[in-house]
Amino acid sequence: MSLTQAVPVEIERVLVPEARIAELVDELAARVNGDFGDGELILVGVLTGAVVLAADLMRRLTMPCRLDFIGVSSYGDGAVSSGRLEWHKRLGCEIAGRDVLLVEDIVDTGVTLARLQAELLAMRPRRLATCALLNKPDRRQGEVEVEYLGLDIPDEFVVGYGLDYAQQFRNLPYIGILRREVYR
Ligand code: IMP
Repeated sequence: MSLTQAVPVEIERVLVPEARIAELVDELAARVNGDFGDGELILVGVLTGAVVLAADLMRRLTMPCRLDFIGVSSYGDGAVSSGRLEWHKRLGCEIAGRDVLLVEDIVDTGVTLARLQAELLAMRPRRLATCALLNKPDRRQGEVEVEYLGLDIPDEFVVGYGLDYAQQFRNLPYIGILRREVYR
């Protein structure tokens, strides 16, 4: 039985292969390890897209870690942002006085992250930093600080490695560009 998945017809092409993702996560983890030292770090993953990155990143971190998730979405069932932030799950642990790493799958307009950072900063962590695997710089609306960024990508709708379109494709081990006719 082969474990290799066929590329679905909805995928135009593979943008970031599995091996390249692994390199990027290695690089991100090495930087986080170097910057945060030995103190406990609370990883806060943004549901649901960042689940895969949070799991892979966490296993490369050398300090004691906790893992929590927050649930927000700025997209409905499609590929067009609603511009609103909907809360599905709030933080389950106390972060006041703690070191926190917010883990996001992709920074698109940056609206989601900017709002999340403001919410978390209001909880008075000792230190808050943000990590995202992918960045679409062409789509940015306003300033958002992301200390640990994996890769800049073009303005295309991508899926895989946790990223979805209408809850599909999260399980692809690579990042692929979704054909435009799928969401047009
Ligand atoms: P932002 O607020 O516009 O930065 O949107 C961030 C969120 O939109 C991400 O956490 C993703 O859930 C979603 N998103 C943005 N671009 C893509 C994409 O290309 N594929 C899948 N989800 C995306």
